[in-house]
Amino acid sequence: MDRADSWARALRCSAGESEAPLDRRAGLSPAGAPWLVDYRLDPATGAAWRRRLRGRSWSLWRYRELLPLADFERRVDLGEGGTPLVPLYRSAPPEVTVWIKDEAGNPSGSFKDRGLSLAVNRARELGAGGVQLASAGNAALALSAYAAASGLPARVALPADTPETVARRCRAYGAEVLTAPGTLLDAARRLEDGDGRFWTLATFREPYRVEGKKTMLLEVAEQLDWTLPDWLVFPTGGGTGVVAMHKAFVELEGLGLVSGPPPRIAAVQMAGCAPLVRAYEEGRKRVTPWPDPETRAWGLRVPQSLGDRLVLAALEATGGAALAVPEERIEGMRRRLAQREGRLVGPEGAAAMLGLEALADRGLVSAGQRVVVFQTGHPANYGLA
Ligand SMILES: Cc1ncc(COP(=O)(O)O)c(C=O)c1O
Repeated sequence: MDRADSWARALRCSAGESEAPLDRRAGLSPAGAPWLVDYRLDPATGAAWRRRLRGRSWSLWRYRELLPLADFERRVDLGEGGTPLVPLYRSAPPEVTVWIKDEAGNPSGSFKDRGLSLAVNRARELGAGGVQLASAGNAALALSAYAAASGLPARVALPADTPETVARRCRAYGAEVLTAPGTLLDAARRLEDGDGRFWTLATFREPYRVEGKKTMLLEVAEQLDWTLPDWLVFPTGGGTGVVAMHKAFVELEGLGLVSGPPPRIAAVQMAGCAPLVRAYEEGRKRVTPWPDPETRAWGLRVPQSLGDRLVLAALEATGGAALAVPEERIEGMRRRLAQREGRLVGPEGAAAMLGLEALADRGLVSAGQRVVVFQTGHPANYGLA
């Protein structure tokens, strides 16, 4: 295998010392924890790498050295990443500079394309016979799209009350769609009796979705001319996005491209499903599964996370925050962003904006600071305007 394009070195257990090679299928580590990809990083090479980026196209693949593909030239590339960072014109708190990182323009309409692009490409490189996952919605769309382009059969399991557009579009990509009453955990059970041919690409159960998602922070750093904002405000379900962006910061630091404190990460969840917020407020290292998750910000309807320890550690390491926002304010915020900012956002993006308001109300964001709020998915994926 030619790994000349990538600085990826090995898989490293996120809860201990063990390592594993990159050239075989990886689930969880022997400690039962997620694997993370480890890179050879040299601060002396950062500046030259940054110059090399200039001639590359504006997609997540411009960061190929910090991605773990074995064969970069033969990748399946649907044009993921390279999303705009746009200023908030009329809705920012006084004297605070706010940008929206709008992920709606990704191939299947959400930031899930970043993670599943990497996960499906790696599954394909390592010989998967098919790919599957249970999803709150957008991950199913992303898996279906990348599987189609990779020539791999795809199977997705959705809670039965997921918006109908998701199932329809997954089928349009050629995926098999299963549904189950209840939550994501109930849907996941529908995938259990496979014959092993289909690899499960559930979040944190394989190491590559984090790698794709970390490109959000790499792009933000580059879009802000290699400076970083004070806050990253992220709508959080399982928390891969949070973990990934903190990992990206550590890697940029390892390359000598950023210094100083990391951006503080604010994880925003819905009041009707806020297991990470509750754990963070109570100073715990793991979450207690949320018993009856209820929210129409579908991507945030995640009662439990395999990566909970990593998410909570990332919030703590960055001096971050965890905020629960009320369901009944989502539609008003979506309207406000449409009518005051010219931007159609999904319920998760609206939740992140409500998170910014909560941060400002608590005095955690102040005049002169710079904030990036993530608008993670297109509302049309849920059949919304
Ligand atoms: C639109 C959207 N935003 C945010 C999230 C939560 O992302 P994460 O699992 O990285 O916390 C999801 C997950 O399904 C989503 O679909």
